[in-house]
Amino acid sequence: MRHFHYKDGEMYAEDVALRDIAAKVGTPVYVYSTATFQRHFTVFANAFKDRTTLIAYSVKANSNLAVLATLAKLGAGADVVSQGELVRALTAGIPASKIVFSGVGKTEPEMRAALEAGIRVFNVESLPELERLSDVALSMGTRAPVAFRVNPDVSAGGHEKISTGKAENKFGIAWSSVQSAYARAAALKGIEIVGVDMHIGSQIDSLAPFEVAIEKVGALISDLRKKGHTITSFDIGGGLGIPYGDNSKTPPPPSEYGALVKKLTADMDVELIFEPGRMIAGNSGVLLSEVVYAKSGEDREFLIIDAAMNDLIRPALYEAYHEIEPVRAPGRNFKTQRYDVVGPICESGDTFTKRRELPQMAAGDLLVLHSTGAYGAAQSSQYNTRPLVPEVLVSGDRFAVVRERPKLEEILRAESIPDWV
Ligand code: LLP
Repeated sequence: MRHFHYKDGEMYAEDVALRDIAAKVGTPVYVYSTATFQRHFTVFANAFKDRTTLIAYSVKANSNLAVLATLAKLGAGADVVSQGELVRALTAGIPASKIVFSGVGKTEPEMRAALEAGIRVFNVESLPELERLSDVALSMGTRAPVAFRVNPDVSAGGHEKISTGKAENKFGIAWSSVQSAYARAAALKGIEIVGVDMHIGSQIDSLAPFEVAIEKVGALISDLRKKGHTITSFDIGGGLGIPYGDNSKTPPPPSEYGALVKKLTADMDVELIFEPGRMIAGNSGVLLSEVVYAKSGEDREFLIIDAAMNDLIRPALYEAYHEIEPVRAPGRNFKTQRYDVVGPICESGDTFTKRRELPQMAAGDLLVLHSTGAYGAAQSSQYNTRPLVPEVLVSGDRFAVVRERPKLEEILRAESIPDWV
């Protein structure tokens, strides 16, 4: 359920006409709906309301401060993977006690910053990381709370570039080394073992891989306890997919996911932690763009729009599908056309879709790329010296620019020409 819909022939985000945002802020621009963020978070939280649960929103999906603050108000925690994300989460009002730190390459300064803040837990992914964390904690006169991210070797669908739970991936502690990793952690003075963590992939569209992995880790938790380790939390990671509108795959709703997870973990006596990203943010945002030219090719029609792969890289990187709709509602008996919708960058990869049947459009028309609230702005760049795409947050009939489009002078100011050039 998302709050982007046609009203009186125009697309609105909640009660704000996208045309008004385009007129005031310009295009391309990301537009987020507060109500959709709230709804997704609440649906997820409600699925676990009778269990002690921490929902640590995965900041990487959409790290805008206004988004984080919106979720903080609802009680969200944060899953962070860098010092930058840690500072964002704290700045947005997410308490350190609700922050988990993931990632395969945490550096010493990052460990120090997280220990100083007093985060909930480090999800540790290797023995060298464990040893370093212990040293850093001891040097600060403290102990680091740790869960190992275990790699349950489960195939979890999704695109090859975002699958993480197989033995061949770089993530987590290899299944055969998990017991010895916990034994080593128990021996280290700077470490306090608190739990177990997993994350098996992203855009997962069936419950089966979750079921296999949770059962495997459940058995592991019993084993670890028998060996005397204290396991109080089980972090199940993120990964639940969302509908992107291509009808090929319909991921299970959070309620079904919740029912399954609750059933499988009923006797585990653990606090559940989740790290959902896409599920919260994906359908909460659109990329609003204007058609610059409609161009006829040899054998096809192109819509050249003012958004490009630097603003939204998912189609180029993962062959991702994003539903496209015009901002002006197609009237009755509208004509359609098969289009390649492309950006202005000089790379064939700067293509959002090929041969998609869409209502006919012309230069100056506005359109949206749906389901771009997650991994859209967060993965944008200034390639081609295109200023970082701005972000707008809507709430009811209000909207605010929550990240400005940088001016060209600002971009250039960060660079310098040495006097010996
Ligand atoms: N926890 C960890 C440790 C992760 O690595 C991720 C995502 C998440 C949680 C959140 O997963 P989600 O619930 O969003 O599936 N850029 C790609 C997705 C990369 C996912 C990376 N890790 C895309 O646009 O599809």
